[in-house]
Amino acid sequence: MNRHFITLDDVTPGDMEGLFDLAASLKAKQGQGVPHILLQGKTLAMVFEKPSLRTRVTFEVGMTQLGGHAIYLAPADIRLGQRETVQDAARNLERWVDGIVARTFSHQMVERLALHSRVPVINGLTDGHHPVEILCDLFSLWEKRGSVAGLRVSFIGDGNNVCHSWLQGAAKMGVHFTLACPPGYEPDPAVMAGAQEEAKGSGARLAVIHDPREAARGADVLYTDVWTSMGQEEEHAKRLRDFQGFQLDRALVDQAGPDVLVMHCLPAHRGEEITDEVMDGPRSIVFDQAENRLHMQKALLVRLLGSGS
Ligand code: CP
Ligand code: NVA
Repeated sequence: MNRHFITLDDVTPGDMEGLFDLAASLKAKQGQGVPHILLQGKTLAMVFEKPSLRTRVTFEVGMTQLGGHAIYLAPADIRLGQRETVQDAARNLERWVDGIVARTFSHQMVERLALHSRVPVINGLTDGHHPVEILCDLFSLWEKRGSVAGLRVSFIGDGNNVCHSWLQGAAKMGVHFTLACPPGYEPDPAVMAGAQEEAKGSGARLAVIHDPREAARGADVLYTDVWTSMGQEEEHAKRLRDFQGFQLDRALVDQAGPDVLVMHCLPAHRGEEITDEVMDGPRSIVFDQAENRLHMQKALLVRLLGSGS
């Protein structure tokens, strides 16, 4: 696998399978109280321009459980590209730490950090992609269903960063993926084209449609995310109007297969993209999904920061 993890294009299907196995074994060890001090003495810098609960806590706890240490740098601490150039920030950090997680607005910011850093850079979400989320979500599906190839995942909502990473992950792993979005909220055509190209190798079918009921019909997984992502707050009122009819509610869940799994990367805006009834209902695996952020990201850290990496 590549030295950096910026999008899901940085891993092969074989890398993904290896990460699933490693995450499962680390999860079992954690559950049984078996020490797994694989990153002793290693330090991770975590540079965040946006808020976070799951990504921050899971990377930080993960480093602790692996015997290493994480340093959280809040938006006001670094001000990437403002207090000093991104290049200079990278060339400082690489002298002290063994890896960097970065959550930025612009996707190019994380790419530039990686370009100038000799230590691995992990994308902890940008406006363009959220690859750790989908890596972890694919692990949750692999764990619950035994494999992911051939699953039918329908994403109801915005063609956003999470959707982009889903397109890449689905294409790589042979997952059939349909986005149902309102007109005007389609994914980036370049990301779609790249994913379609990759899907030729895996057999994944990728589609973008505008009818949520059609997308939900027969789906194995119904996935949603907020309609207003971080940084889009001033579009909130318009988006609330535009996404009417795209709420994941019981009627939509009833269209899917009887064993459908409901997923959401969280945070949820309850009452907007998902109802309480569905999020707290029997088909929902959202908190298992959140737990697995920890286990899979530990596997990623071991692969990227561990000796022999
Ligand atoms: N899903 C996710 O990345 O959550 P946070 O924004 O809380 O990190
Ligand atoms: N699309 C959301 C994902 C949050 C994890 C956002 O970017 O805010």
